[in-house]
Amino acid sequence: MLVRRRKSWEVPERHATPESVFLDRRALLAGGAGLLAAGAMAPHARAFSLFGSSKVYGPPADDPSTGLYPFRRNDAYKLDRDVTPEGFNYTYNNYYEFGSSKEISEPAQALKIRPWTVTFDGMVEAERVVDIDTLLAAMPLEERLYRHRCVEAWSMTVPWSGFALAELVKYAKPLSGAKYVRMETFMDPKVARGQSTGSFGYPWPYVEGLTIEEATNDLAFMVTGAYGKPLPKQMGSPLRLATPWKYGFKSIKGIVKFTFTDERPVSFWEDILPREYGFWANVNPEVPHPRWSQAEERVLGTREKVPTLPFNGYGEQVAGLYPKDAGREFFM
Ligand code: MTE
Repeated sequence: MLVRRRKSWEVPERHATPESVFLDRRALLAGGAGLLAAGAMAPHARAFSLFGSSKVYGPPADDPSTGLYPFRRNDAYKLDRDVTPEGFNYTYNNYYEFGSSKEISEPAQALKIRPWTVTFDGMVEAERVVDIDTLLAAMPLEERLYRHRCVEAWSMTVPWSGFALAELVKYAKPLSGAKYVRMETFMDPKVARGQSTGSFGYPWPYVEGLTIEEATNDLAFMVTGAYGKPLPKQMGSPLRLATPWKYGFKSIKGIVKFTFTDERPVSFWEDILPREYGFWANVNPEVPHPRWSQAEERVLGTREKVPTLPFNGYGEQVAGLYPKDAGREFFM
């Protein structure tokens, strides 16, 4: 029998039913009978019960970009909270490709992060495929301290390493008619068992999107590392997004493609549960999630609950991107 000992920093979820629990239950109700009949539930259930892994997986030992770190810190991005100790960040993750619990760091080690190419396509001057190390060499690298607020009402503060998404947009040379950038995660069901058939029919690969105005806002950041080192695989190595004024599900991990388009992309969670998750996902303490409050957040690494701030405290930089009377849809 699996017995899970609660770690010191885990406190009971009073405000939020984790999405994973809810979605799994919902999917079971919706399609469980068929899946059970097909015998597909058993392997899935095993793969998703990886509780209690004691090993902490840090930056990949064979990451060829290791020598580039640490990046110069950009002091324009300050925090009014302590940085979350890296151990919390390395062991408490959402990455549904590898399972629906928070403890997916072990299965995530199966991901091969080299060779890794990034495709730029859609409404661009010329489509191209670029190797991640070539991309890193072309970008102005820096470190920024950011808040990270999950829709599940927990938060962290992270020293991310990477480069401004605006620089990547410049590099991609979008056409003037492009209104959105759509981002896509790798697809490899053999490695990422959550993506295999029988995993509740989620619409893999994971997709996210931003307007061009959001993507070129100073705050939008492409992440390649954290804590002055390359990113651990479970945190989205070798390339993920950080949009700290939005709920964490916008911060797509393991990105392989940027598509410039004039059509608003449909995000992964929006596709699954459109009544609960939208395209905009801007943090707003006054707009509750349909099943829990967003007024407060549990700060991981401390025993604190603190009030959540509009746009997660970044209103000065980003509120102007949205209408003054922005309705509920902008905050879910
Ligand atoms: N990206 C992919 N590809 N798959 C995911 O399941 N989860 C999202 C986001 N990016 C997710 C993803 C969610 S819900 C959150 S809160 C953050 O990643 C979690 O990032 P962290 O594990 O580094 O805290």
